Amino acid sequence: YPGAEQYLPRRRNLTELRKAIDHCHGCDLYRDATQAIFGEGLKRSRLIMIGETPGDVEDRTGHPFTGPAGHLLDKALQVAGLDRGELFLTNAVKHFRYQTRGATGKRRIHKTPSQTQVAACRPWLEAELDVVRPEGAVVLGSVAAHTLYGPDFTVGDHRGAIIDLPDRRAWAVITIHPSAALRADDRAAAFDGLVDDLRLAADRLA
Ligand code: URA
Ligand code: SF4
Repeated sequence: YPGAEQYLPRRRNLTELRKAIDHCHGCDLYRDATQAIFGEGLKRSRLIMIGETPGDVEDRTGHPFTGPAGHLLDKALQVAGLDRGELFLTNAVKHFRYQTRGATGKRRIHKTPSQTQVAACRPWLEAELDVVRPEGAVVLGSVAAHTLYGPDFTVGDHRGAIIDLPDRRAWAVITIHPSAALRADDRAAAFDGLVDDLRLAADRLA
């Protein structure tokens, strides 16, 4: 697989990008997923939120952050005083990766995308950043962080601070993925930590 670059349209606006991503064969993930989930939200948003990959629900709805992790993120945004309608939400990888489980093989369990898949999909994220041109980004979890900062980057080392978004005149806040807060032993503490990080971004925009 060649990576996504050759599938990007010549005209880089959200409408053209969204049309073109339906035909992306930049990595193997298009084969088993239902559809590519492109970013959504305010076109010239001041803030972009970058997740990992669409999940089972998103794969069916076609919209980012519409499943359990999305609902948790919605709650955290609300507590932090951020309005989802004023954001642009997307993912590092645009197709759902999963393995099937259970007797019928119908349960689809999320699998973390590989380095190769992450690298293959990166041109779509770069194109979104080029169009939206946000002032800041919230980087949700290690897959998104590795996409932007490389594989040696550790989320935990960079929480609670505003750092630069690489190669762009924009800042970033690094935090956990909302689905990690759903799985945490102490869910309340994980949620509060996510909210604290989102507040950092909200304060920076204020
Ligand atoms: N998790 C993500 O990272 N993105 C989604 O769109 C849904 C769940
Ligand atoms: Fe293309 Fe990304 Fe889907 Fe791979 S995951 S096929 S690179 S859109």
